[in-house]
Amino acid sequence: MNNNKTILITGGAGFIGSHVVRRFVRNYPDYLVVNADKLTYAGNLENLSDIDRSPNYRFERIDIVDKKSVTELFGRYSFDGIIHLAAESHVDRSITGPDEFVFTNIVGTVNLLNAARAAWGNNSGGKLFYHISTDEVFGSLGSEGMFTETTAYDPKSPYSASKAGSDHMVRAYSHTFGVPAIISNCSNNYGPNQFPEKLIPLAINNIKNRKPVPVYGKGENIRDWLYVEDHAAAIDLIFHSGKTGETYNIGGNNEWKNIDLIRLLCRIMDRKTGRNPGESEALITFVKDRPGHDLRYAIDSSKLQGELGWKPIPRFEDGLERTVDWYLSNEKWLKNVLSGDYEKYYDSMYSGR
Ligand code: NAD
Ligand code: DAU
Repeated sequence: MNNNKTILITGGAGFIGSHVVRRFVRNYPDYLVVNADKLTYAGNLENLSDIDRSPNYRFERIDIVDKKSVTELFGRYSFDGIIHLAAESHVDRSITGPDEFVFTNIVGTVNLLNAARAAWGNNSGGKLFYHISTDEVFGSLGSEGMFTETTAYDPKSPYSASKAGSDHMVRAYSHTFGVPAIISNCSNNYGPNQFPEKLIPLAINNIKNRKPVPVYGKGENIRDWLYVEDHAAAIDLIFHSGKTGETYNIGGNNEWKNIDLIRLLCRIMDRKTGRNPGESEALITFVKDRPGHDLRYAIDSSKLQGELGWKPIPRFEDGLERTVDWYLSNEKWLKNVLSGDYEKYYDSMYSGR
């Protein structure tokens, strides 16, 4: 099973992608792991500095929206499997500029599907196009219920609509053209290497620098948090043991109201930075809500747990503490990703809120 496969991982320089690439490079020395990434603001090769000299790893700078580059990539390698993570991933950015989400998330995915279809033709036995998606395609929950694999799609933001579009295209290529595909839909990830525009790393960085911690609306929205390495482990398991044509939900069974999560984070930060209890919490600032802000996400991952035996590992409090430790001891990483461009984005997003 492990012998001599060539695996394409797209978006491998990003947050989740880098954990997936590291896991595959380390765990499967007989695989050739090809990481194709455009290196947008969210892609950072520093995330992979510990494995980038491994003999079974290659990096290819590719924009998946550029059909010619994708076709040429498939000409250079004969891929046995594709794990597709490359995407524009931040909801707030999709509200200020939806176009890029349509290009990368929908057109980019179709370019990859076309290339896989052309490469595999009628010999697709043993091949797999594994598409990484999000729970946001299901829309927003009220106070009851959970998303299952059969919940109807009801995306509400340009980001989630573009991810839903890409999921539909993957299913259509599987159904119509026989491209062997699996999709997984995961809840909110957290952990090392997440770009500090997302709630948890943004809050850690702001608390560290004694800057206001922006909480949208009243902080009542609920997310279901999963440690990134648990997601990478689920992806590994699904890639190797999942059933072609199936969908799997991945989630931590770990719902937190934003305000409760931020308060917990503040307590951890007080302790880690030697501040007086309550000092970090004083930085919490309620700001104007995100337009169309989904109220609650919660994933039912019983299919993945029951059929493939996956289980999330760290308790949230432990995973969060591990995450805080990582950000506090990786100042150089933070400094490098917080470039001038990000500072401009931050100012335009939060000034006047
Ligand atoms: P990220 O924004 O950290 O990384 C995205 C990566 O894709 C970056 O390395 C970027 O350079 C690359 N990329 C963007 N546009 C590209 C293009 N046109 N061509 C090639 N590469 C391009 O994202 P993430 O949080 O790691 O998410 C990875 C995937 O997982 C996405 O598909 C996302 O929808 C999905 N997902 C994320 C979460 C989460 O909580 N972060 C949860 C569920 C699903
Ligand atoms: O559910 C999976 C999704 O989780 C992924 O598909 C997305 O790629 C990922 O970005 C994430 O989307 P969210 O919008 O849930 O994540 P974000 O970290 O942006 O926000 C989490 C919650 O915190 C959300 O309710 C909005 C709120 N928030 C966010 C920011 C950035 C704040 O209150 N203040 C903030 O400054």
